[in-house]
This record gives sequence, structure tokens and C-alpha cells, in this order.
Amino acid sequence: MIQVKAPQVSYGKEIAELVRVFYPEEQVGEMLPLNEEVSEAIVLETGYDMETADTCRFYAYLYRGGSSDCSSKPKRLAHQESRRSYPNYDEGLNRFIKDGIKGCVFDLLAGYTGRHPRRGAQTGVRPVKLVQELLDKGKDDAEIRILLRDIYKMQDSKIELLLETAKNQRHLIDEPINNKVSVYIHIPFCSTRCFYCSFPSDLIHRAADKMDEYLSCLERELASVMGELKKQGTEVDTLYIGGGTPTVLSRGHLEELLKLADRQILSRYNILEYTIEAGRPDSLDNEKLKLMRDYGVSRISINPQSMNQETLDLVGRGHTVEQVLDIYHKAREIGFFCINMDVILGLPEETADHMERTMEALAGLKPDNITVHTLAVKRASVFRESFKQYDPSRKGLAEEMALVCRKWIDKLGMKPYYLYRQKYMLDHLENVGYSVPGKECLYNIQFMEERRDIWAFGAGAASKLYFPDEDRIERIGNVKNLDSYLYRIDEMIERKLKALKKGGN
Ligand SMILES: C[S@@+](CC[C@H](N)C(=O)[O-])C[C@H]1O[C@@H](n2cnc3c(N)ncnc32)[C@H](O)[C@@H]1O
Ligand code: SF4
Repeated sequence: MIQVKAPQVSYGKEIAELVRVFYPEEQVGEMLPLNEEVSEAIVLETGYDMETADTCRFYAYLYRGGSSDCSSKPKRLAHQESRRSYPNYDEGLNRFIKDGIKGCVFDLLAGYTGRHPRRGAQTGVRPVKLVQELLDKGKDDAEIRILLRDIYKMQDSKIELLLETAKNQRHLIDEPINNKVSVYIHIPFCSTRCFYCSFPSDLIHRAADKMDEYLSCLERELASVMGELKKQGTEVDTLYIGGGTPTVLSRGHLEELLKLADRQILSRYNILEYTIEAGRPDSLDNEKLKLMRDYGVSRISINPQSMNQETLDLVGRGHTVEQVLDIYHKAREIGFFCINMDVILGLPEETADHMERTMEALAGLKPDNITVHTLAVKRASVFRESFKQYDPSRKGLAEEMALVCRKWIDKLGMKPYYLYRQKYMLDHLENVGYSVPGKECLYNIQFMEERRDIWAFGAGAASKLYFPDEDRIERIGNVKNLDSYLYRIDEMIERKLKALKKGGN
């Protein structure tokens, strides 16, 4: 157990996240600033003093607390200090202090453990957004490189990936104020549960008899918000139906879903991009593909995760490599504009050679987008208990696999265009969306950059409303449980309408 003691609770959360990067196996807790009860735990204590009006000293101590009966004394393990000048920092005092403390903690833990994670002290979900903010402030590449290296302690390979991604997406990012929004529809159902999956979803066979009601609630939610948005003169330009696995719906229900999206959205707005995350190939057939194309879907995902059959069997994926190939070719014949394929780095028993085979097979198919996820293993998940994925001997393997992916991505002429992090990812890596230039998924960028409203519908869907004057996001989450969603649909609608009146646009 490692206890983090920070001068403010909000810093404590981020510092704890940074400690987990060095100690993925340990439980990391956050202590209240004045709590002195540290009995026998390892404690990371951090803080700062303004030494002069413009110079700040940051410090971090690592020590083992003494026992409460005084039979063992506290023992200092490591100590770090650094100084920084405030006037050279244009991000505001709060950020200056937080970044200063995190940098100091990073140096302390890197020195103590001998490990130097490439991402440095940066722990946020959206590191590209940080680079976009620096570009907005007029910083050039050289200045951004220096900042990321000095303040966030990032290594060059990460800095270049972030800069490259930021530049590839920059021409597709919204101006902070416009009247365009995105719509997301959530279909949280799957045929079976993949062992590694970190997304909540219900098994379709258990929910099948509620599907008519689910679709009718979705339509009610959409009708009330879409109508109001139209009245306010707001435009919708991207629509994303995700899950779960939306195409696991029966043909009849899938057609119902497509029809209601058509009635509520496509008939009202000029949609530039319409994605359905089809996902598992075993949820698709010719008829479903044709239906989607006929209702205007422009982008789909067909996700192998791995092109090694043993791995698919091991993680309970429930489909074959041949099914991936077969459905991909059918989708191409039917004429989809854009096909994405997801793969995961670090699946159990896989090595760089497996990734080589997966990427070689994908290169033969030439999809328009490849999204490279890094396995995220939540503490205590079934998967974690079964496969001991954090076995220290596997450290660095996901990173090796990422290099194999990048080699094939370059051969395919694809470029990184969006990137995000999740908790508990192997080797402190990230998820990266790559695209053939011109085929980037706008919705993915809009969702990550948080410069517009995303209206989200269905059980567990979370809308994000952007307030440009304050440059902040407010979330309105629908309840996750299917029955609660069906039962409380009026409340879900009411909450959205209230937010619309308050000025979400
Ligand atoms: C919300 S899932 C839906 C996709 C679809 N149901 C499928 O399985 O093909 C989106 C993607 O997240 C990734 N994913 C899910 N669980 C993950 C985990 N624990 N670690 C890393 N990536 C994960 C997979 O690549 C998956 O394709
Ligand atoms: S099909 Fe997709 S969403 Fe469903 S359990 Fe598997 S990875 Fe998760």
C-alpha cells in the first residue's frame, strides 16, 4: 500500500495516478492533507513553498511510516526537491503548482525505481489536447518540445507522437464557438462477453424481450432533444452508433434502429459522417451490411483485435479469423466508404511475432483506419486473475508490439489522428487511431478534443456539453442499468431538456 499525501485533494488524485505508473501492482491511496495516520504504510508526501514572490520550491519524500505502537520508527526512503520560476509559466498558478509537484514526484520515483516511463509525469486522458492548447497559444514545435520534456519529463518518442497526432487532426478541429454538435447512440449489448473487455454491456439474449421498449425509449429521447436543437438553429454533422455491439441486434431490430435514426436525425440534418461500430464479425451478415449502407451509414468497424485464432479462442472472442476476412470482403463489395479495424496490444500469450502476423493480415486487407488499443487490465477483473498480465517478465512487451504496429502503419501510408489514454494500460501506453489521410473519423476527434457538445442517447450514454466562454465540459450521464433506463426515461429526457434551456447548444 502506498499512501499519497498532497497539499490539495485535487492534486492527490493525479499524483496517485502517477504513482500507479511506477507501481501498477500496488494499491495506491490518497490521504487527506492533514491526516497523520500513516502507520507502517509507504507514504509519498509532497508539497511546495513560494520561496520568493516568483520562485517556488517543490518537494517529495518517500518514507515508511512507523508502527502505531512505536516498535518501529519511520524510515526515509528517498527525497527530491526542485525549483521553478513562476513568471516563465503562462498556464496559471494552479497548473504551475500541480505540474511542479508532479515533475518532482516523477524525478523521485524514477530515481528510486530506476524506471523512466516514456510518457513522463503526464497522466491525463487527452495528452493531444495539451499540445493543441500550446499550438493555440502560438508556441512553435521547438518550444512545445522543450515544455513537454522539461515540465512533463516526456521522452522524445512520445513527444513526436503527440505532435504528429496534433498536427494531423488540427485542420479537422472545430473553432471553439460554432453551432455544430455530434450525436452518439449507445447500444450496450453483446452476444457474449470477451474476457478482457472493460466496457459495460448486457448479453443480448437476456435483453432481447426488452429491445422493442429500448428502441422506443431511444426514439423518445432523440425526438425531444433533436426537435429542440433544430428550433435553436443547431446543426448535427456526425452521428456515431456504438456499444457494445450495435449489429448484434436482430435484423428486424437493426432496421428499426436505422429507421429511427433516419427519422430523428438524417431527415433533419446534413450528416457528414455516420458510423456504426459493427465490431464483431459474427454479428454481421450480407443483409445487415446492405441495410446499413442503404440507410446511409458511411463508416463501420470490423474488429479482429488479433488475427491469431489461438488468441481469439483464449480471450473468448467467439469468432474466427476467417469470419473477419469474409465479412471484410463482403463490406468492401457492398461499398462502404470507410472501414476501421481495432487491434489490441498485449493480449494474453501474444508476443511481437503475433502482432507481426496480425498486422501483416490487416495490411493485406487495406482498411481505411486501424485503431491500436493497449490492453487495460482493471484490478480484480476476471481477466486479470486468469492471466496475470502484469507479470513483470512481460513489461515492455506491449511497447515492442506497438513498434511492430507502427512499422506496418507506415507501410500502409496511415497517420495517427487521435489518441487517448485509459487507466491501467500496459506499459503506460495509449490508444491511437491511425488513418489513411482524408479518411479520419471526425467523431473520434470531436469526442476527444471537447470543443463541442456531444449529445448521447441510450442506457449508460453520457452527453458532454461544452461551455466555450469558460472552456469547460459538463456531463449529463444516463443511468447504466437497462431496466432503470426504461423505467426512468422521462427523467433522462427532462435532464437533457433542462440542460438545453440552460444554454448547452
Ligand atoms: C467499446 S468496444 C466495442 C467494439 C466491439 N464490440 C468489438 O468488440 O469489436 C471498442 C474497443 O475497445 C477495445 N477494448 C475493449 N476492452 C479493452 C481493454 N480491456 N483493453 C484495451 N482495449 C479494449 C477493443 O479493441 C474494442 O474493439
Ligand atoms: S464484443 Fe466488444 S463490447 Fe462486447 S464484450 Fe467483446 S469487446 Fe466488449
